[in-house]
Amino acid sequence: MGITRTLNVDEVLKRQDSGDLKRRLSSRDLIGFGVGIIIGTGIFTLAGVEAKTHAGPGVTLSFVIGAVVAGLAALCYAELASSVPTAGSAYTYAFATLGEVFAWIIGWDLLLEFALGAAVVARGWSGYLANLLGLPQELFGEDATVNIGAVLIIAVLTVVAIMGIKQSALFTNVLVLVKVAVCVLILAVGVFFVKGTNLTPFIPPAQPAGENPEVLKQPAIEAMLGLEQSVYGIAGMLTAAAIVFFAYTGFEALANLGEETKNPSKDLRVGILGALAVCAVLYIGVSLVLTGMVPFTEIDEGAPLAAAFESVGMHWVGALISLGAVTGLTSVMMVELVTIGRIGFAMGRDGLLPKKLGVAHPKWGTPHRMTIAGAVVIALLAAFVPITELSDMVSIGALSAMIVVAIAVPVLRRKRPDLKRPFRVPLSPVLPIVAALACLYLMLNLDLLTWLRFAIWLALGFVIYFAYGRRHSRLAAVEREGAGQPKQE
Ligand code: ALA
Repeated sequence: MGITRTLNVDEVLKRQDSGDLKRRLSSRDLIGFGVGIIIGTGIFTLAGVEAKTHAGPGVTLSFVIGAVVAGLAALCYAELASSVPTAGSAYTYAFATLGEVFAWIIGWDLLLEFALGAAVVARGWSGYLANLLGLPQELFGEDATVNIGAVLIIAVLTVVAIMGIKQSALFTNVLVLVKVAVCVLILAVGVFFVKGTNLTPFIPPAQPAGENPEVLKQPAIEAMLGLEQSVYGIAGMLTAAAIVFFAYTGFEALANLGEETKNPSKDLRVGILGALAVCAVLYIGVSLVLTGMVPFTEIDEGAPLAAAFESVGMHWVGALISLGAVTGLTSVMMVELVTIGRIGFAMGRDGLLPKKLGVAHPKWGTPHRMTIAGAVVIALLAAFVPITELSDMVSIGALSAMIVVAIAVPVLRRKRPDLKRPFRVPLSPVLPIVAALACLYLMLNLDLLTWLRFAIWLALGFVIYFAYGRRHSRLAAVEREGAGQPKQE
């Protein structure tokens, strides 16, 4: 009962004027935040790993496929973010269209994406720093029992995140300049070391996955069709596309900054589409250069790009790449923390999480309580769990939220045709449906283990909703009042 109650769009729009969060961001800040959260482990590590293990030079095509799918989803996000600017993004769109239980599960899913993403990146950051400065691996490395480096960086970034959105934007912009410069350097220098022989055949022929392949590591779609487990070939390139999609995740974070953007109707769409376009161009170029420089079978899985330049004697470029990776990963974590704060704030405001989390700091205008709560969870995860392999969970979380956002576009058009839409997805409902199917297809290319873990996360989410959110929801109180029963806090 009540689980499909929806949020009134006009009420969501009115919240914009509450002044709880402060309108301080321009479209330039948004592009900075976008590139800040997008470029990270995906290009610095996963591109090389996937070229070596699944796609060969075809990993460049995997990045092209990722860009197309992310681009379709970004168009849908751009329409909703510019017509319903809100701190909750996909969570709130689902609440306004599909109903409370869907909204909760999408919010829960987004918290997974950003918290796990930040924890994965924090551990990777710590490892890179240890390599760069020669710090002890027992405290900073991937296998550290208690990863001190990850905890320290999360603590510092949390302080910046709660001090103010403008401070976070400034900090992020500086880091973004460094990492974009490093990507451009990779392209400008690397192009002189590309050998045609490394790029042929562009898609290596498919091979069986070995003697005893792990059953749970098979892509879900292959298992569903009863196919043999294999690597390389078209199937390998598609598997790699699903895995490197991680590299594009994060642009959706911008949709949570609608209440802090000076001119949301224009700036949000410019920020979302602009940031994604910049990253797609860099990714496609960098992956082509990497696989052109080194035969794919010889790519270093730990630090693929730095090692590629070391192998051709360009040691100074290798060192700058490590620096770029450390700064790049710092901005990813920064924006992820900012985003978790906003999503949890929106969920607290609606009563699906404790209402105290839905309160902004009176002076700083940031959701300080949720930011700190999120940071504690991330720091604990990153400190104690070797979670690098969980990056696929981030992708499955992001893709499933994108499906809901794509569906929400035509649903909201039908429900509220009168709504002011400064940006409209062309060819709706065809394009949103294609976007949803493309996201689903990539999800199906992720392995069975990722699906299993995702199912467990969602099941946990349903338990929490039925035990807590359903009763504490602000809409439940409204329903009770409507039915003449006393309001419960
Ligand atoms: N897109 C981000 C990265 O690649 C999460 O690290």
